[in-house]
Amino acid sequence: MERKDFIEQVGLSAASILIFGCMQACSKSETATPTQPGGNNNNKPIDFTINITVSPYTSLSTAGGFYVDRTNNIIIARTLTNEFIAVSSVCTHQQVTLDFVPNDNNFFCSGHGSTFSPTGAVTKGPAAVALKKYNTAISGNNLRVFA
Ligand code: FES
Repeated sequence: MERKDFIEQVGLSAASILIFGCMQACSKSETATPTQPGGNNNNKPIDFTINITVSPYTSLSTAGGFYVDRTNNIIIARTLTNEFIAVSSVCTHQQVTLDFVPNDNNFFCSGHGSTFSPTGAVTKGPAAVALKKYNTAISGNNLRVFA
């Protein structure tokens, strides 16, 4: 192998190692561990809009329906009085995913029976920490959820 070929091969290997290392570092920062009760990450900005007439959000087209956004760990519900509410979908007791119970107008955890008000406050334990609440704004069929 000539010196020029050797240097080219070593240079390519070194560049590959650097790029691979950078990609690993970048991906780690995007999958940060949740740091807040309820499973959401305080550092992750929440601001998205969904069309409630389009799958998988159509459950929000009718009063009493709800949808769990597993990407952001947010449960979005439409109350029986047609208000849209959104809170963290992760129970603050032991991280079970919550359901919305329209007739009780609360969020229910099937794990150990905790309930939370529409604002995320604990209304029945064993959970002791409130859920993070998100803002909602409806415009036509578009529902914005934001911190
Ligand atoms: S995990 Fe929700 S009450 Fe225990």
